[in-house]
Amino acid sequence: MKKTLVALFALAVLCSSLFAQGGTEAAASITLNKDKPLVFFNRQPSDPVSGEIDMASMNWNDSTYYVGFNAAGGGAVQGKLITDYLQAADASIDRNGDGIIGYVLCIGDVGHNDSKARTEGIRKALGTWNGSTDPTVVKEGSIEIAGKTYKVVELEGKAMTGTDGSTWNANAATEAMGGWVTKFGTQIDMVVSNNDGMAMGCLQASNYPAGVPIFGYDANADAIDAIGAGQLTGTVSQNVDAQATGTLQVLRNLLDGLTGADVYTKGITEPDQYGNKISAPVYYDAAVKGLFAENSGVNSDNWTQYTAGTRDAGIKQTTAPAKKVLLTIYNAGDNFLSSSYLPALNYYAPLLNIELTVVQGDGQNEASCLDKFTNLNNFDAYAINMVKTNSGADYLDKLKY
Ligand code: BGC
Ligand code: CA
Repeated sequence: MKKTLVALFALAVLCSSLFAQGGTEAAASITLNKDKPLVFFNRQPSDPVSGEIDMASMNWNDSTYYVGFNAAGGGAVQGKLITDYLQAADASIDRNGDGIIGYVLCIGDVGHNDSKARTEGIRKALGTWNGSTDPTVVKEGSIEIAGKTYKVVELEGKAMTGTDGSTWNANAATEAMGGWVTKFGTQIDMVVSNNDGMAMGCLQASNYPAGVPIFGYDANADAIDAIGAGQLTGTVSQNVDAQATGTLQVLRNLLDGLTGADVYTKGITEPDQYGNKISAPVYYDAAVKGLFAENSGVNSDNWTQYTAGTRDAGIKQTTAPAKKVLLTIYNAGDNFLSSSYLPALNYYAPLLNIELTVVQGDGQNEASCLDKFTNLNNFDAYAINMVKTNSGADYLDKLKY
């Protein structure tokens, strides 16, 4: 009799725990894809021409955010890095002695807010910015070097679109640089690039004029090494570690059920429940639902602080419940995303107990990315990096159900 009672009791306990489990599963599965956390990163949903932020995409649900970096501030940092360098130079910087500092510019992607901000920052610093949204329109600037005023002329600026249509293309930069040297010769006193991939591409040109200063952007590992080796003059760090942890931390917070300001402060500007916090400065802009990292200039004085493998010690292994995130990358061949961003994501995701599934596109057709944005029910949250900055609606359309 006693045995029967024990067995009945055990059965009851088992049934109730099975029921509870079933209940939890049922509760979890009723989170529709349209209500799941979503972070756009690196390519801010925006109009490629006007740069206006696509707030319809940003307001998709209460759990939609953007994570990037201070693009305008970064343009200014890059501009200052360049003018500081020029102002410390001597008269030999003017290679042909014509009183003009001539430079060429690798623009990257004319429809990308980061690219636009850098072009503007550089041109404003050099006085060649004429206020136009047309990337080809410039004016003559001026700068004082060793007590003498020089004119500054942008000899040519080029978007750098690959033969396959992809943007920020390093091979296109190698080719353009070769052409520029042939066309402008010693009129070129300086080369400026809106990213490191294209800057390193320029240095690959067989006729690159040795010793001509060249500036990039991103602080990719190979660019930092090139600064150490005296080939690259400077670059700007957009703090990829802060952005990668920011993207993951915002998702983590949303998945942990945090709301309001906790979503973009916990683990970011103040410790989260696991004791984690990003060390680098980041700020939140409510108007665009965006979290932004700050930039810093890198040159021969401080490059050793930016060598590969410097990870944020403020992020440690957590005991957070495991979650699955589907993350898209617009172009598997993008230097910054593949050599800086993705390794950072792969480092931090396991610490936050996030299992990432990464799908990558070809950088030219949205379909190359979008077609892999599938099996959406299998994921707890999404992180999106689009081919075209105005494609937000195409991704959201797939999350409707
Ligand atoms: C980076 C570029 C990169 C682009 C991709 C920018 O923030 O500086 O190097 O190609 O993002 O979206
Ligand atoms: Ca000159």
